Amino acid sequence: MRIVLIGPPNVGKGTQAERLIKKYAIDHISTGDLLRKNVAEDTLLGQRAKDYMDKGELVPDDLIIDMVNDTLEHIDVEHGFLFDGYPRNPVQAEALNDFLLEKGLMLDKVIYLYADKDLLIRRAVGRRICPVCHTVYNIFGFPPKVEGICDRDGATLIQRPDDREETVRKRLEVFKEQTVPLVEYYEMAGLLLRLDGSGNPDEVFDVIVSELGEG
Ligand code: AP5
Repeated sequence: MRIVLIGPPNVGKGTQAERLIKKYAIDHISTGDLLRKNVAEDTLLGQRAKDYMDKGELVPDDLIIDMVNDTLEHIDVEHGFLFDGYPRNPVQAEALNDFLLEKGLMLDKVIYLYADKDLLIRRAVGRRICPVCHTVYNIFGFPPKVEGICDRDGATLIQRPDDREETVRKRLEVFKEQTVPLVEYYEMAGLLLRLDGSGNPDEVFDVIVSELGEG
């Protein structure tokens, strides 16, 4: 199963990705997670990416494509993968096409999750993350047992710097301008599954699996 998961910020890509990679036993490549890891480790890439991320803008394509190609070298792409948050614009989609062409592989499906803007902003404002184990909570729907504390390891939960409402609105604009054209592109290619991400995580997961099949 070779899948791309695209959708606006906070639609639940990461939440569904965690379930889908278990279900289909495939690798998960989240460019957002890879970038945050680089920022946390203060690598050169992290230093160059941080400002763009904090402002809600896309990190330049050359940095992203190098990072992704490097990651792809270390996984069994023939077995399958799920991209979460990549590609995000036509240049990145071309880079992915070139990579797959070179390997003689094709994407199986591109899942586009959508939800309305108010819901996306509410999910962003409510999101809390464990800095140690990276478990994702939401104060409005999936809170930890003790406020502000991770159930798994007791760490103090944090908010992502780009989850401030103003930055989320900027990320939504960037999504509309740069990523929505990909939705049309993959639709024309006959790969797109357009699915509602506004239900609860189990409902959304069940719909995705019913569309993808058992694998
Ligand atoms: P990235 O990390 O990819 O952010 P994003 O696409 O904006 O998506 P999010 O991680 O914010 O949300 P999500 O859809 O995964 O939602 P989640 O499951 O966490 O990118 C961050 C930044 O990195 C970008 O702005 C950019 O600067 C840079 N970047 C990354 N990739 C790039 C690329 N390819 N090119 C250039 N730059 C790039 O859920 C959100 C919240 O809602 C959680 O609290 C969760 O618990 C809750 N929730 C989830 N699903 C449900 C549900 N069904 N019902 C109720 N609550 C739910």
